[in-house]
Order: sequence, then C-alpha cells, then structure tokens
Amino acid sequence: MSKLNGKIALITGGTTGIGFATAQRFLSEGAEVVITGRRQAELDSAIKRLGSNVLGVQGDVSNLADLDRLYATIQKQKGHLDIVFANAGVGSFAPLGAITEEHFDQIFNINVKGLLFTVQKALPLLKDGGAIILNASIVASIGMEAFSVYSATKAAVRSFARTWTTDLKARKIRVNVISPGTVPTEGYRAWVTKSKWTNLLPRWRPKSRSDGWVCPMKSLKPWFSWPQMIAALSPAPSSWWTAE
Ligand SMILES: NC(=O)c1ccc[n+]([C@@H]2O[C@H](COP(=O)([O-])OP(=O)(O)OC[C@H]3O[C@@H](n4cnc5c(N)ncnc54)[C@H](OP(=O)(O)O)[C@@H]3O)[C@@H](O)[C@H]2O)c1
Repeated sequence: MSKLNGKIALITGGTTGIGFATAQRFLSEGAEVVITGRRQAELDSAIKRLGSNVLGVQGDVSNLADLDRLYATIQKQKGHLDIVFANAGVGSFAPLGAITEEHFDQIFNINVKGLLFTVQKALPLLKDGGAIILNASIVASIGMEAFSVYSATKAAVRSFARTWTTDLKARKIRVNVISPGTVPTEGYRAWVTKSKWTNLLPRWRPKSRSDGWVCPMKSLKPWFSWPQMIAALSPAPSSWWTAE
C-alpha cells in the first residue's frame, strides 16, 4: 500500500517549483492534494498537468480572507487535512543600505505572516497525529550577501518549527522544517534574472560541485530529492521526527 494512501495534503504554492514537484510525489504515493497559488493561469495549468485527485484554490497566503476561503473550500470538499506543506514563499535581493519598506513588507508578509496564518488557520481541520512541514532555506543560518531580509524570514520559519512543535505536542501533530540550498526552480530563475543586483550573482553561484554552503548536497541535481524528503516527513511512520 502506498505510504500516503487516503491522506489529504495541502501544499501552498503548489503550482511551480518545489511545491509542484511535491504535489507530484504526494499523488504518486496515494494522497489527495490541494494546491494554491496567486496566478489563476498557473493554477489551471498545474491542475491539468497533475491529473486526478487534485483540488486547486486560487489565493494569496498573505491575505487572511483568501486563507479563510481556502479552508472553507477544503472543509466543504474534503472535510479535513492530514498534511500541511507551507511552501509558498518569495525572495528578492537588496543589500543593507538599499532595503526599502516595500521590499521588507512584501517578503515578510508572504514568508512569515502568510506562513504563520496558513498553519494557524489549518489547525481546526488538521487531524490529531497530522504533519506540518515548513519550507525554510539554508540562508536561515548563513550570511549570504544582499539576502538579509529573505534570510531573516527563513530564520523565523525555522524558529516557528521549534516552538510550534511544543504548542502542538498534545495533539501529536509533528512540525518539521526543510532547508533547501539552491534549487533551480521557476521562482529562483525569476528572482535572479529580474534582480538589479545581478552583478553579485557570480559570487553566489556554486563554483563547483563541492561548494557546500550554497549547495549542501554538493550538486544542484539532488533537488529532485526534496519532494521525497517532504513525503517521508508526512505519514505516521515518521512520527518520531519533529522540529527538524
Ligand atoms: N529555489 C530555491 O533555491 C529555494 C531554496 C530554499 C528555499 N526555497 C523556498 O521554497 C519555496 C518554494 O520556492 P520555489 O523555488 O519552488 O519557487 P517558485 O517556483 O516560484 O514557486 C513558488 C510557489 O509559491 C506560490 N506563491 C508565491 N507567493 C505566494 C503567495 N503570496 N500566496 C500563494 N502562493 C504564492 C507561487 O505561485 P504564484 O506566484 O502564482 O502565487 C508558486 O506556486 C519558497 O518558500 C522558497 O523560499 C527555495
């Protein structure tokens, strides 16, 4: 029997990148999947490519009314959730001295406020013994040039995993956090090509397969294993994994 058979999983930001690949993995392991994203066209395309057992709900995680509408839809159509992968996130660059209020608000609103309320508003629907997985980044723990605001949001996400583990202990809901290195997704490519700080890019690129701090797994290729890791953190057999 597939490990996620019969489980209902929410993946915010499931239309592209890590979220989309995770939706594919969850479906292949027998789960029903709910995906979200702000762009309706991307959502429609993702639903089509993923096939059956997928529900798509358009919305912005930083908009609390959108989250209420998401959970009302899940309540009506699925009844409950077993897994929440709070993945939706954005990044952009600005060195200290050039950080604007808009840059700060946009990244914190989505990556911190949006993620917090994604999880908090999911709690009434999430079954006891369920799993929450948060998407942070290696930059939470390193000093990558011009990436301070994004890195601070990911440090907050790592901290949430630890405190929420204790908050949710009584319900046996496990909270884990993943910290990917560079993953060449649609989002990553857009962040780096649109940035006015692209002159800094050569300093960030992995110089070789052994450039461990940019890429802890020492190659860009193993990013395909993140969905496998996220799936492994989800079902009951991994019930001793929490706050990782
Ligand atoms: N790629 C990397 O190198 C890397 C490394 C470490 C961590 N991460 C983290 O991994 C997560 C996914 O990133 P990715 O690289 O897979 O990027 P991606 O390809 O751009 O995917 C991001 C997904 O999130 C959605 N999204 C963005 N903002 C949203 C919002 N406010 N509300 C709802 N959905 C939203 C996007 O759809 P819409 O734009 O249509 O909303 C898309 O579905 C992010 O949290 C990112 O910080 C990425």
